[in-house]
Amino acid sequence: MGSALGAGGLDVATADKVVENVLGTYALPFALGLNVQVNGRDHLVPMVVEEPSVVAAVSNAAKMARTGGGFVAEADEPLMIAQIQVDEVPDFAAAAAAIEEHRAELLSLADGAVPALLEHGGGARDLEVRDLGDGLAVVHVIVDCRDAMGANLVNTVAEALAARIGELAGGRVGLRILTNLADRRCVRVRARVPVEALAMPDADGASVRDAIARASRFAELDAYRAATHNKGIMNGVEAVVVATGNDWRAVSAGAHAFAARSGRYGPLCIWRVAADGLLEGALEMPLALGIVGGTTRTHPGARLALEIARVETSRELAMLAGSVGMASNLAALRALATEGIQRGHMALHARSLVVPKRG
Ligand code: MEV
Repeated sequence: MGSALGAGGLDVATADKVVENVLGTYALPFALGLNVQVNGRDHLVPMVVEEPSVVAAVSNAAKMARTGGGFVAEADEPLMIAQIQVDEVPDFAAAAAAIEEHRAELLSLADGAVPALLEHGGGARDLEVRDLGDGLAVVHVIVDCRDAMGANLVNTVAEALAARIGELAGGRVGLRILTNLADRRCVRVRARVPVEALAMPDADGASVRDAIARASRFAELDAYRAATHNKGIMNGVEAVVVATGNDWRAVSAGAHAFAARSGRYGPLCIWRVAADGLLEGALEMPLALGIVGGTTRTHPGARLALEIARVETSRELAMLAGSVGMASNLAALRALATEGIQRGHMALHARSLVVPKRG
């Protein structure tokens, strides 16, 4: 473990192969989130994050959720969407009909472009044609990426199909790229927290529960609050995403686009008082994560993180990251709805001020 984490888990020679013009490496704390139980299974959670109190808050809230049975999560199949833009389409209905007629040919062309994915049980699953108006059509190719995040696979598929699609649609091919709004690859997490677990020194559990439910409502009604609410969720989610070598910009882009899908930006996790008096949380968000390929393969720290997380599939990793996001949200709302976050935050922050100065 020491050698995987020495030098921040990545030596300079390896870093030089990952990106261009490398000067060195740049380390962040690699920590463990505790008490996280997902679908009855315990996990130690690898988290890479620079903000004090995120790891402690997740561990604390996960313990509260555990008293109510832990997190119950499900994840969609690992379906990603390739987008092929076709411009100057003279007749959308005719273009859509021609593409539909050649569906089998197009899907097998897509599969032919990613033979290694086929060997692992993935491949192209579906096609859809959307009319964006203004002579612009877009074809979505749905690709099952199995345990890969899938950006390279999906982009390969988009490029392989573009010319034929342009021909069938009678238009000019434009962009060929995945969408980060991975809404076919969502994770859904639920938790039920007994009031006793929510009590604070100065507030009984039932009043904390009610205050959390009102804080959640605030985020549903106000985009300004929803942005901060979701930032608290991403504190947990992204720490797992970074630790496991996944693309956090892709995850952020997808999460925030999903949060705005109704036309109004809203919270990715909401909390209600259930009929039996428990606090009940529900989170839904896209999470396109991989456990094979890319940085998950080249970064020794990411490989170690995946071993620690004990996940066998990309879907299990998404369920774990989603659960950590929910824990992070619960901890933030409980603190904000009662004593405020500054007291606990500053106590942990004080530790960071005693870090010894160098030379
Ligand atoms: C700080 O990193 C995150 C919070 O602002 C989240 C929230 O307000 O819910 C505390």
